[in-house]
Amino acid sequence: MKDVKSKPPALVGVIGQPIGHSLSPAIHNYWMRRHGIKGYYIPIEIARENLAEAIKALPKMNFRGVNITLPHKESILHSCDSVSDEAALMGAVNTLTISESGRIHGDNTDGFGFLESLTEGRPGWQADAAPILVLGAGGAARGIIHALIAAGAEEIHVANRTREKADSMRSDFGVRVMGHGMDSITKLVAKMGTVINTTSLGMTGKPPVLFPYASLKENTVVLDLVYTPLETEFIQQSRARNCITIDGLGMLLHQAAFSFNHWFNVKPEVTQSLRHSIVGE
Ligand code: ATR
Repeated sequence: MKDVKSKPPALVGVIGQPIGHSLSPAIHNYWMRRHGIKGYYIPIEIARENLAEAIKALPKMNFRGVNITLPHKESILHSCDSVSDEAALMGAVNTLTISESGRIHGDNTDGFGFLESLTEGRPGWQADAAPILVLGAGGAARGIIHALIAAGAEEIHVANRTREKADSMRSDFGVRVMGHGMDSITKLVAKMGTVINTTSLGMTGKPPVLFPYASLKENTVVLDLVYTPLETEFIQQSRARNCITIDGLGMLLHQAAFSFNHWFNVKPEVTQSLRHSIVGE
């Protein structure tokens, strides 16, 4: 009782604009309860012009860390005292950890969350076992391509509506990466061991991915980053062709686990009961 009184609750949260839709508070508050950590994970809406000032105040308020989401993932770099190699390479930070002395460290957890989700959905998955197709060439695709190369992928095809952006991935990541237009992948798809949708297509309110499903071979690992809805057409159609499908919630949960571990030094579990409590499925 004495300890509860003397120690203030731990503060963590997520900063973005808008922030009302974020699932992160539910995830972190679930783990805090489970691990008996007294504290709060708070959604904080901050406009661009107030970001730097708000971040400076976090150590003074004894925050242990925050997640950073749209539209601040790039501009937040200037507010960090140090950043991880991944964050520097991506030019984007989505997790801040604040030391007891008030130093702010920035991480990018996209690659970590992606690989954890992939190997959870397909235990024993090997990056170099077969060619990989990445749909999209935005920020999320960059994190994933970086993680795939670090994991040993030898052949990565990137298909994007704007072909030049897919080609620029080869200049940025090297000759293991090949760029394509979105409309020229039918033949390619049959050779892929893994296919990943990093575009926003399929999200509630957006059109579905136009994809040559008939070319997918059985047991291809198909991962969608979209998690609203969980059952995208991309997931449904791929499952109907006996592919191994992995929805977008896994990546989000594993990214959250990375943050939680850094802030509280506790590795939380990504369980079915957590998934149930977040999406009620
Ligand atoms: P993120 O950081 O989440 O990856 P982004 O950088 O805006 O977001 O990238 C979104 C990706 O979705 C891009 O690859 C984009 O294609 P373009 O580079 O051609 O813009 C893709 N995308 C979004 N809307 C699309 C649409 N209607 N059709 C095809 N691709 C689309």
